[in-house]
Amino acid sequence: MRNKITVVGAGNVGANCAVWAAKKELGDIVLVDVADGVPQGKGLDLMQAGPVEGYDVSITGANDYAPTAGSDVVIITAGFPRKPGMSRDDLLLANYEVVKTATEQVAATSPNAVIIVVTNPLDAMAHVAMMVSKFPKNRVIGMAGVLDSARFRTFIAMELGVSVDNVTAVVLGGHGDTMVPVVRLSSVAGIPLTELIPEDRLNAIVDRTRNGGAEIVKFLKTGSAYYAPAASAVEMAESILRDKKKVLPCAAYLEGEYGISGLFVGVPCKLGANGIEKIYEIKLTDEETAALHKSSGAVKELMDVIKTKMM
Ligand code: 2OP
Repeated sequence: MRNKITVVGAGNVGANCAVWAAKKELGDIVLVDVADGVPQGKGLDLMQAGPVEGYDVSITGANDYAPTAGSDVVIITAGFPRKPGMSRDDLLLANYEVVKTATEQVAATSPNAVIIVVTNPLDAMAHVAMMVSKFPKNRVIGMAGVLDSARFRTFIAMELGVSVDNVTAVVLGGHGDTMVPVVRLSSVAGIPLTELIPEDRLNAIVDRTRNGGAEIVKFLKTGSAYYAPAASAVEMAESILRDKKKVLPCAAYLEGEYGISGLFVGVPCKLGANGIEKIYEIKLTDEETAALHKSSGAVKELMDVIKTKMM
């Protein structure tokens, strides 16, 4: 039987999730959105690209969750995007309502799915999805680290004029200004970054990574990035649906790992058929640990607001 993937939200991120997932033939895809006709139109359009692009999957659109029933993976992208000058955190309460409503529907129609949350503020929204769905922690994952480390890898490759294929980079922490690009654990074909890039340039690349989303919001003016966020979510979906067991940085619910409890924070995870199959707890320096705790502190502030609202 084919896999079934639901993408909630047929805006730029959602539609591009459908594009990447179709191109990889991950399974049949259902796009859901509240806007009448939009998911239907985009689904049909994308299906008609199949004969040209050589993929053969069903892509349909709906305004309700009945056609999504029994999905294996659900990617939640619905929500308001940032405008220039806004932080991801400014979206907290508006997107809380969107994610809550979507998750209630997903939990009722696809009780065995793995949920990948993309909506911002990411770590808090993943937490909302876990609380509302009551799914176990291995089946609710936030997409952020794949995107943030892809940005870090891109900037390193651009700096050195080398193939991005050779660059591995680690970004931990929340998906916000306090994220933690870990220079010590990043390399180019195994060569530590510190051997290749002077400190001032490395600091500039780390800053650019932290502000990678805002840089694009500033260019677009009316919304935020979508190609790379969608590709990142689909890489996670692929690892789950094909049981590839890739090790990817993801927002995971921590219960003591890295000295953090009761929060979603970006850490390296093994993704397979059971969702998060392992969280890797790597030894960090005191400085890295302090940066990670500062970042989780920022996530906690958001969750305190949400928890007050939920009570
Ligand atoms: C970003 O960083 C949308 O959060 C996403 O671009």
